[in-house]
This record gives sequence, C-alpha cells and structure tokens, in this order.
Amino acid sequence: MKDLLRTADLSRADVDLLLSTAADFAVHPLMANTALANRTVAIYMTKPSTRTRLASESAVAHLGGTPIFIRGDDLQLGRGETISDTAKIISEFASALIVRTYAQSDVDELGRSSSIPVINALTDDDHPTQLLADWITIHEKFGKDIAGRKFVYLGDGNNMSHAWLIMGAIMGAHVVTATPAGKWAPNADVVAKAREIAKTSGATIEVFHDPEVASQGASVLYTDVWMSMGDPEAERAEKMKVLQPFAVTSELMKLTEKDSIFMHCLPAHRGEEVSAEVIDGPRSVVWREAHHRRTTIQALLYHLVRGEIKGR
Ligand code: CP
Ligand code: NVA
Repeated sequence: MKDLLRTADLSRADVDLLLSTAADFAVHPLMANTALANRTVAIYMTKPSTRTRLASESAVAHLGGTPIFIRGDDLQLGRGETISDTAKIISEFASALIVRTYAQSDVDELGRSSSIPVINALTDDDHPTQLLADWITIHEKFGKDIAGRKFVYLGDGNNMSHAWLIMGAIMGAHVVTATPAGKWAPNADVVAKAREIAKTSGATIEVFHDPEVASQGASVLYTDVWMSMGDPEAERAEKMKVLQPFAVTSELMKLTEKDSIFMHCLPAHRGEEVSAEVIDGPRSVVWREAHHRRTTIQALLYHLVRGEIKGR
C-alpha cells in the first residue's frame, strides 16, 4: 500500500506493526535517525493544527529528515493549479506528503497523482493517524486482551466518530457510538463498512442515540469537539443544544467500569463536550494520547516509506 488515505485501508497486521514500532519509538525516539536522512517530507494543511503538525514535524526530524510545512493558501493550487499537477511537483521534492484538508476526495486525488506516500492527517470524513495514537494508549492501559471491554464514543457523528468505528472494527473491539439521530449521526456508509470489517475481525458495532445506555459498563468514554473545523457557524446554537445530553461528565463516568478511562483527540472545550473535572481528572489519558501522535506518525512514516504497510 503506497498511501494511508483512510482508516479502513489498514489491516490488523498493519496496525499491529505500527503500534509495535511506535512503542519502540516512545522509548528510543532516535533509533532510526537516518531513515529519512537527506530527504524531505511535505506537510500541507488547509485547516489549523496543533498536535498533528507538531507531531509530524518532530517525527520527520527524529527520522533524520527535513519537514517542509506548507500552509493552505501558500501553493499555486489556490490560484487554479490542479491537484494532479501539484501532486507531481511535490513528488519531485519530497519523500512523503502529509495532508490535512476538507474533502476526502482531494486527499484521494493527491494519493492517485503522487508517486510518493500520501498520509491523511484529517479530512471532514476521517482521521486515521489519530486512531493509531488512541489505540496504542488503549493497549498501554488495558493490555492487548480487550475481550469483554466496551469502547464508547459520545457526541458529534463526525470524522472522529467514523475513525473510531472503523479502527474499533479492525481491532475486533466492541465499539459503540452514541450521537444524536439524524444529521449529527455517523454516516451510514461508514457504519456499514465497520460492520463489514467486523464480520472477519470479530468486532461488535453498536450505534446508539442514548448516552446513558451507551456508557453502561464502558471501559472507555471518548469524545470530540462539537463544532469541527469547517462546520457551519449558523448551526452552532442548535448543535450545542442537541448535543448537550452527550457531554461527558462525572455522572456519566459513574456508569462505566471501575478502571475506565476518558479519551479525547483534543482540542477540548471544557464545559461543552466534557467537564473540566473529567478531562483534568485521574481517569483522563488525553496527554498520553497526544504524546503518541509523534510516536505513531513516526512509525507510519518509517514503514510507509519502506513499503512495509500492506493494506487490507
Ligand atoms: N487531535 C488533533 O488532530 O489535533 P490538532 O487539530 O491540533 O492537530
Ligand atoms: N472533529 C474535529 C477533530 C479535530 C482534531 C475537527 O475536524 O475539527
């Protein structure tokens, strides 16, 4: 597999390899510090980023390469040059392209038109690199035997909810989403894809609209911002109201297992999707997840550039 365009592109063996290498990079960040020596990695983002940008630039540096950060409006792409021509030019100068933008189809086209690996660093539909960091954190906390455990995402049925369902399916987990019904539920095609993957992985996929039912006996409560980058401001007031029952509070945490954890990809809005008491409390693993953005992107670059990710 040349690119990582979607979470669903990864096989279980790919994820196992990536998380194992990421665990090594957590302990020995410089163990492969010539892997990208004298090479560059382009990082092109048309949306803001704190973690993914810093993690990506650090990962490239730790592999001995040079990151070239390109802000959305810096390229001639914004003045009418095609995606395909842009991809050919980036392929001339970089060994990989990490891209964050709106439309998944733009990232797909960059992948098709580039001769180098292209990594999806978040689109409106998906966030594959985040889930690698999330799952190494889950393994650190619970070990690899996750039988009998329930992994619950609460809130907006957005890109994170999609990636949560698909990666949980790949990992053979009991994954649940609890979102409002209707326009803020996860995309039906993504739910169908998760169920298709679950047939061979042994995962259980449940889609709920009641946060309390979903949270009963959970090992993880995961949430994300209620207003994602690019969401229409005109919908803010209605969305905040509809999502209010899905906020992760201490009351909701009380319904979960004794050893349960709270997860969030960040950035967080305390008092909206999560209370300060929960995110800043003892069950929160959000800083460890953020730490692993670097270890997992480093592992991904390392193996993708070497052609070692096989795909599904
Ligand atoms: N979790 C995440 O992707 O954070 P950034 O938007 O800061 O990159
Ligand atoms: N759903 C959020 C995730 C941020 C990491 C967004 O797309 O803005």
